[in-house]
Amino acid sequence: MQNAKKTLRDVNVEGKRVLVRVDFNVPLDINTGAISDDSRIRASLPTIKYLIEHKARVILCTHLGRPQGQVVENLRVTQVAKCLSHFIGLPVNISLDCVGPGVENEVKTLKEGNILFLENLRFHSEEEANDLHFAQKLARLADVYVNDAFGTAHRTHASTVNITKYLPAVAGFLMEKELDTMNKLLTSPAHPFACLIGGAKVSDKMGLIQNMLKRIDVLLVGGGMAATFLRAQGYETGRSLVEKDKLSLARELLEESKEWNIPLLLPTDIVVANEIKATASTKIASSTNMAASDYLVDIGPETIELFSRELRKCHTIMWNGPMGVYEIPQFAQGTRSLVKILSTSNAVTVIGGGSSAEIVHEMRLTDKMTHVSTGGGASLRCLEGLPLPGVEALLNKI
Ligand code: 3PG
Repeated sequence: MQNAKKTLRDVNVEGKRVLVRVDFNVPLDINTGAISDDSRIRASLPTIKYLIEHKARVILCTHLGRPQGQVVENLRVTQVAKCLSHFIGLPVNISLDCVGPGVENEVKTLKEGNILFLENLRFHSEEEANDLHFAQKLARLADVYVNDAFGTAHRTHASTVNITKYLPAVAGFLMEKELDTMNKLLTSPAHPFACLIGGAKVSDKMGLIQNMLKRIDVLLVGGGMAATFLRAQGYETGRSLVEKDKLSLARELLEESKEWNIPLLLPTDIVVANEIKATASTKIASSTNMAASDYLVDIGPETIELFSRELRKCHTIMWNGPMGVYEIPQFAQGTRSLVKILSTSNAVTVIGGGSSAEIVHEMRLTDKMTHVSTGGGASLRCLEGLPLPGVEALLNKI
């Protein structure tokens, strides 16, 4: 739970140079290089439109991909700037770089209500190093700093943390909305509250489960990570990935859930395959009776029914992580079925970012959910109860 932070509404932006850190690190199609999911761009539109309407001189900055301090041609911000321009119906000029005298001159000519998009911050290694001097150079471009990059708030980078040493720093509307949603889940969710957790590795979600277990009414675990819980109970898990160093923690969580009387439900039946390939032969097996040669690749029909029943009883549902090897269509049934249940539920439905958000967007069910987070790592960290450096650095409301 973070302190309430000042937002855009708390500062005067008229005529000011406002540097907005957005997270336009969007997925790009591996074949064409085109933006395959523009939801992060759409999500920051309220902040950008507000600044335009309030006559700010808007300077946007983002990272895109992981160019590791080098200029990488296909990671230039050209496409994201074009996409933004399309959404707001205004020209968006792109700067040659993100810092330096050339950029400072471009900013000087920026008029009220106009936008300048800085080049990819990560073309400079100083960005990820949270370099003070680099942060100072960025800050020189502006009078006010707005952080709308919830998806990058778990990173301690120059444009998210050290920059706040030089400029009044407030949250954008997307940042505010994401934090409000996460805080509500942590402090005052409507009950019954279910967490539906999946994904390949239990280690990625242990912190989340530990922090949420005492706040929820039921925990549903699917995906590859269910194998670690099944092995912890002594069952055969075939060739599925089992994190042996997490077995005792899995046992502890199973014990805790019993002690606190919070059901931790594992799959009762699963889809197993002889290999993790689209051509694999598959069958339904009992989760307590897997063959040594098989992989757990999805939850089975009985589990879909069991989990759906539980979800239908709830007033709040948080989902993070697919129920199987979602990338392979024949192993995606469990995930798709439960996403459909979420989309028709009257409960508050919050989708963790990353692959879960991508699945909801791909299934075109985004509008049917209460909130689809734009931050994978950031939302996970929030729900683990850990502070986000990019948020901590912003001005407190009081
Ligand atoms: C994300 O996509 O999770 C954020 O944009 C952060 O990107 P990173 O993992 O490359 O730091």
